[in-house]
Order: sequence, then structure tokens, then C-alpha cells
Amino acid sequence: MNIIFPFLSVRTQEHDIMNHEEDMQERALKRKAHWLEHLMTFVNPGTILECGCGSGFVCEMLSSQFPDSCLIGVDISFNRLRELKEKKYPSVFPIQADISQLPLARKRFHTVLFVSSLHEVFSTYGDTGVYSVMKTIHSLLKEKGVLLIQDFLRPSPRQVTVEFKTAHARSYFTRFATEFRVRPIPYKETPKGVTVDIGDAIEFFNTYLYLNRSPSPESWEEEMNESHYFYTKEAFQQMASECSYRVTHLSLLPAPDEYNTALSPHMHWDFTLDYQYIQLALIPSFNP
Ligand SMILES: C[S@@+](CC[C@H](N)C(=O)[O-])C[C@H]1O[C@@H](n2cnc3c(N)ncnc32)[C@H](O)[C@@H]1O
Repeated sequence: MNIIFPFLSVRTQEHDIMNHEEDMQERALKRKAHWLEHLMTFVNPGTILECGCGSGFVCEMLSSQFPDSCLIGVDISFNRLRELKEKKYPSVFPIQADISQLPLARKRFHTVLFVSSLHEVFSTYGDTGVYSVMKTIHSLLKEKGVLLIQDFLRPSPRQVTVEFKTAHARSYFTRFATEFRVRPIPYKETPKGVTVDIGDAIEFFNTYLYLNRSPSPESWEEEMNESHYFYTKEAFQQMASECSYRVTHLSLLPAPDEYNTALSPHMHWDFTLDYQYIQLALIPSFNP
């Protein structure tokens, strides 16, 4: 599970590269905090729910910026909630629950947030699950409430070429395309690599770097069940409209440079990824 920036997981045996990786992690955290500062400007203070709060990166920002608000953090992972609890943020109340079955009262929330967690819902419950969760959140929000989403952005579909510089990279692509379970990964072999949809290519990049760290079989299984790049901008907009929300803010967030640095020793590709994340503020629309 890659929380901040999936391409940060590359690891080699050389210490200088590990130090470089730590720098990248640090920069990624700073970047995430910077983007979240922007998302925070759309928060409606009061009763705030974070779905998939993990160990509390977002809760920390919320509790310091909205000290008078009541913050509820829901996560399925007991261990992450325990870490959150140990941080002792005043006004943060952790609840262990599945986002798809939120045990919460209707029309109580001024703000609901999904930060890097909607792709998890998609990975587990598919498109139907995302729509169902969005409709539930609609019922939990007060009339002037707001739903804030920050997550990975799938690029518009197009075929791209990826050339492998090592046999290792090629064989991992084949394994990824065969074992990825969230959706089929269609591709065509070329002499030096493959042609594949751009969204599947970046999903592979993510997995490849994770694999380079020699994950346990459990981590590999987890990666094969998790799609980061699930919706394009248009798919997010369609979901909002079909679940009765009005989009009041939409930003696309750039793909950082580290993306190239980490992968280019292993493969060559013929595309540029302009944006890697999306931020949305959605207001529920109610029938008159
Ligand atoms: C990538 S982390 C994001 C954590 C936090 N929002 C952040 O940005 O730092 C995704 C979190 O979603 C949680 N999660 C995944 N599926 C879930 C589900 N069905 N119900 C509740 N939480 C879930 C995971 O346990 C994980 O803590």
C-alpha cells in the first residue's frame, strides 16, 4: 500500500540511493502537506469525517487548523487507528469500520474527506461500491456540507510504449499483467517492450518499484488487489453528477520529477505524465 507517492518505494543496496530515496520521501510528504493546505481551504468546520484516515496525517492538519471542530476518523485497520490514538490529538475520535458500511447518523456532517482512500474503495468494491459509498456520504452530509476528495488520477486512455532495459523489468511486466486482479491488463509485445494503455503503464510502474523492494508474498498480493489509477477526470465528474453532487472545485496536481529519476534505469517510455492527482470539492444537490 503506497500512501503518498507510489514511485517512492524503489530501493537498491547502495546507501547513497537510499539516502536519495529518503529525501524523496521527505519531499513527497512536504508536497502532500502543501496540497492538503489547499484542500483545507474548502473545509466547512463543525463535525468532520475523514474516511480512510490511516494513522492520522490528515487528522493532524485538521485538528490544528480546526481546533473547535469534532473530527471522526474511520479506518478499517486497527493498527493504523492505534497509531492515530497514540498521537492523542484532542477532538479526534477514531472509529474502526468499513467505509462501505458507515455506522453514522444522517445529515450530521459539515465536511467529509477522502484523501488517498477512494481508490481503496474502488479496489475492493469496484465502480458500484464507489457509487454506493458516494450516495451514503450524500445522506450523511448536512445541506450545506461538502465532500472533499484527493486521490490518484488516471490519465485519459491512449496506447503508449514501454521499453524494458533489463530482462527483470520485462518478466515483472508479464507477471503484473497476468496477476493484477482489479482489471484485465491488455498489451501487445514489441521487440523491446510492450504497447499498453497509459493508465495500466503507470499502475505497472508503481508495482515494479514496489517489487524491487522484494516484498513479502502478502505485500505482492495486496498490490495485485489495489488499483491506484482508477478514474479519469471525466469519470470523477460523471460519478459526482450521477451521485447528485455539484463540482465546486477541481484541480489537477502535477506528477513530480522523481517519477523519471526512479524508473529510467529500468525502462524507457514514450509519454509524459502531466498530472498524477486530482482534488475535488463536491456539494450535495438536493431535490427541491
Ligand atoms: C493510503 S491510506 C490514506 C491514509 C490517510 N487518508 C492519508 O492520506 O494519510 C488509505 C487508508 O484507507 C484504509 N482503508 C482501505 N480500505 C478501507 C475500507 N474499506 N474501509 C475503511 N478504511 C479503509 C486503509 O487502512 C488505509 O489506512
